[in-house]
Amino acid sequence: MCGIFAYLNYLTPKTRREILELLVNGLKRLEYRGYDSAGVALDSPDGKDMAIVKKSGKVKALEDEIFSKEKTLDFDSSTDCHVGIAHTRWATHGVPSEINSHPQRSDVNHSFVVVHNGIVTNYKDVKLFLEKKGFHFESDTDTEVIAKLVLHLYTQHPTYSFRELVEQVIQQLEGAFALCFKSKHFPGECVATRRGSPLLVGIKAKTRLATDHVPILYSKDDTSIKSDAEAQNPDHRPHGRGEIPILPRSDSTAEFQPLEDKEVEYFFASDASAVIEHTNRVIFLEDDDVAAVKEGSLSIHRLRRTLDESHSREIITLKMEIQQIMKGNYSYFMQKEIFEQPESVVNTMRGRLNFETGSVVLGGIKDYIPEIRRCRRLMLIGCGTSYHSAIATRQLLEELTELPVMVELASDFLDRNTPVFRDDVCFFISQSGETADTLMALRYCKNRGALIVGITNTVGSSICRESHCGVHINAGPEIGVASTKAYTSQFISLVLFALVLSEDRISLQSRRAEIIKGLENLQEQIREVLKLDDEVLALAKDLYQHKSLLIMGRGFNFATCLEGALKVKELTYMHSEGIMAGELKHGPLALVDKNMPVLMIIMRDPVYVKCMNAVQQVTAREGRPIVICEKGDTETQSYAFKSLEIPRTVDCLQGILTVIPMQLLSYHIAVLRGCNVDCPRNLAKSVTVE
Ligand code: F6R
Repeated sequence: MCGIFAYLNYLTPKTRREILELLVNGLKRLEYRGYDSAGVALDSPDGKDMAIVKKSGKVKALEDEIFSKEKTLDFDSSTDCHVGIAHTRWATHGVPSEINSHPQRSDVNHSFVVVHNGIVTNYKDVKLFLEKKGFHFESDTDTEVIAKLVLHLYTQHPTYSFRELVEQVIQQLEGAFALCFKSKHFPGECVATRRGSPLLVGIKAKTRLATDHVPILYSKDDTSIKSDAEAQNPDHRPHGRGEIPILPRSDSTAEFQPLEDKEVEYFFASDASAVIEHTNRVIFLEDDDVAAVKEGSLSIHRLRRTLDESHSREIITLKMEIQQIMKGNYSYFMQKEIFEQPESVVNTMRGRLNFETGSVVLGGIKDYIPEIRRCRRLMLIGCGTSYHSAIATRQLLEELTELPVMVELASDFLDRNTPVFRDDVCFFISQSGETADTLMALRYCKNRGALIVGITNTVGSSICRESHCGVHINAGPEIGVASTKAYTSQFISLVLFALVLSEDRISLQSRRAEIIKGLENLQEQIREVLKLDDEVLALAKDLYQHKSLLIMGRGFNFATCLEGALKVKELTYMHSEGIMAGELKHGPLALVDKNMPVLMIIMRDPVYVKCMNAVQQVTAREGRPIVICEKGDTETQSYAFKSLEIPRTVDCLQGILTVIPMQLLSYHIAVLRGCNVDCPRNLAKSVTVE
């Protein structure tokens, strides 16, 4: 999706150049969220005017525009200022172009500007309303209505504070958003809010902060409202009607609280990777929080108080390290993340699995285990790579839990209005924890009373917060748009869950023991697989000019075929298909001839003989299969045109080792084809729209 980054100081001004550097740097960290176009808005020294610079293309294009043409910009970058907001876009409404990029403005005077991540679904209604009021629109974005709506409200209510205006605005919006506003009418201030899209506040102070919690200030102290759902009053939305009703004004007296240290610098960002080099102290905003910074103080407001919510926001200390979001000696983040897997898989198991005693404890779900054991079925729900991790582990979950296991693509699950019951346990698997389809499916299941288990890689993410319990996969920040180390860590998290559920089954103890042994050896075996990098590169050189690549397998390795094909497609723009080898003769065999590259995964597991049938069907049609097989398996290799040998592990973990050559292969083909590995076209890391 898009990335939002904002910076504010109060007592220690920086030059506009320094703030621009800071903003561009923040955008670079968020670029994986969108890279169609980028822009910044910056205060003038007195805050009463604003400069906006926008550019189509990647953040680098914006950086060049700002710094190589600094002399031609229509402002003096050596003067001081206090506030800047910035955005990197992944286009949803309106093609990538300068006019459609953010910040979007209310008018040519830049009275209000806004950056937005998400989609405003009722923007047409709001636009119609504003057009009738005489507003003219310059872009095709949904975001422009927000900038114009806040100006409209300001002209109607000039005595309202900035924060109050934003509160009024969000009452009129439907859909998902994280927003950050600036206004020349409110110099030095910034207001940010979210609903459905992530946003955090970073706090950097010279001295120790006086508190670990920021209390929420309520505009209306109405404790009779019982829940957020009840608090949503649809009458306050335009829905195509002629007028926008204005809500009662805030009756909150305590305007600003509680971080007294005026030396504080603040950041707003879509995720922690953008702020970690400045501070590790952050607040994850909740839906409908409105955070305002004025004269060095932060306050967090909500329109209504409800009985069932927390009345403060915790300032969390992140454990993330700056090195984790740097490329180091690698050419791309994806490459670094592939090579991090010997460590990331261990981090997923650390503190959870005792290799000596065989005990497995998942702290985040341990209180719910009795309930899970009693459930009717397990449902694993996710999108893309996260969904593949569910496919990869389904068979083992069925075997060790002896429960029915359904695996669902979040979008399809919702399209079908799938029946869900109170005694279902629903797992939501998501690296980012923000994927809209997965989050919507979570809410759907939660409303039906199911137990919600989140499997995510992002602390503080929406899926984390909205789950009843969960497992943090601890893979570390994943920045390359194509998911790699998160997949292997999701895989292991689900294996650990299967081990927990089977802990007291006598009949399963020897199976558990072999899996635990396999997990213990995994780090070394992944290192061994990574040594195949040069061999994989040679293979990539043979394949990169082809139009298509078929990847076949079955059983525990079918997920590797799907995941390998997804990696090839998204990174290299080559057609690729993961084919269930059992389905070969039901259609895909027609694709096979001497020119069609075919990759087959054939391990010595229970489906070995069937896989050997498939390889013979391929060779009988003059196909020239490249085979991924077990180290030393010369018999299988004798059927292969080329082969890659990987170490043997227990059947249900083999997919962790077979996927790594696929990650490397897609990476090398992408580099050979001149594709941008970390930012594949048309994609974004965190897809916060349905
Ligand atoms: C592929 C990829 C995507 C994501 C999918 C779900 O490499 O990264 O398919 O897996 O968009 O994202 P998360 O896991 O963040 O929910």
